[in-house]
Amino acid sequence: MAETLEELALQGDPGTLTSEDRASKIQLLNPQQLYELWEKQHWLAHEIDFSVDREQWANFSDEERDYFTWGMSGFFIGEERVTTQFSGLLMAYEDESEEAFLATQQVDEARHTQFFDRFYREVIGIDDPKWETRLARVREELNDSFAELFDKALVEANQRLISDPSSIEAKVDYVTIYRMVIEGTLALTGQYTMTDYLEKNELLPGFVEGFNKVARDEHRHVAYGTWFLKQKCGSDPELGALMQARLQELLPVAGGVLVPKGADPNDWEMLGYTAAEINEFAFKALTRRLKAIGVPLVAEHAGNGVAV
Ligand SMILES: [Fe+2]
Ligand SMILES: [Fe+2]
Repeated sequence: MAETLEELALQGDPGTLTSEDRASKIQLLNPQQLYELWEKQHWLAHEIDFSVDREQWANFSDEERDYFTWGMSGFFIGEERVTTQFSGLLMAYEDESEEAFLATQQVDEARHTQFFDRFYREVIGIDDPKWETRLARVREELNDSFAELFDKALVEANQRLISDPSSIEAKVDYVTIYRMVIEGTLALTGQYTMTDYLEKNELLPGFVEGFNKVARDEHRHVAYGTWFLKQKCGSDPELGALMQARLQELLPVAGGVLVPKGADPNDWEMLGYTAAEINEFAFKALTRRLKAIGVPLVAEHAGNGVAV
């Protein structure tokens, strides 16, 4: 059974708090606490039971199958990207607790990739023996916004950090893209929508079990990002401005990743949820995290915010 959104905030991620007011007062978990939480929350991607999923998948209509294959593709390839584009941040650790937490996160991302790969092989049937071939086939589903965010912005930010792990600017930039845009705004929004639909319709129970565990890990990752950005940007206007600029540039790109294949980018629907509802969910969570960090999305008096 999935945790409620309030329970998930106990992972240290203020994005799921029901009250915006509480976000600015929440005590954020530090990397040592997040590491200890990780030790208590182990799970195994290869122990999830997909037998009911396989039966249900065989009875899906072609349209449903197309839809879910598309919906899950961004997660599968996204998890592969955030696993392989991680090493710059590990090099940029500032103390032992941060290093320990970051090492756990890279393991989490590899586990998430394994989970999606297993689902694609054992339920969807993309089971070529080569990883590269499986990834290339799933990639065919993805749009240009995905490539701009995951193959360009994330890869370049990781390379800048590898070139100079002591650069706080490069670290703030990387954490903003990875934790605030990719995990916090994009992944957790898509995850919430898909899981809600599948749970209400009692579909794909193995997938839902694993996906809820992925989401619990993701909230822990976003909690680290919120803690880190508060330390660095909360009281440094220049670093805060760097973070704001990145968010304003990439939030519309993240919004583009969610647009289903062939749909009107301004007026689409996913599993009965409208673009406006999905954007509102994403925007609310982001606003709470930014409240906790102490940096608004736009500088005061500069406008009305950027919708995703
Ligand atoms: Fe992940
Ligand atoms: Fe993550």
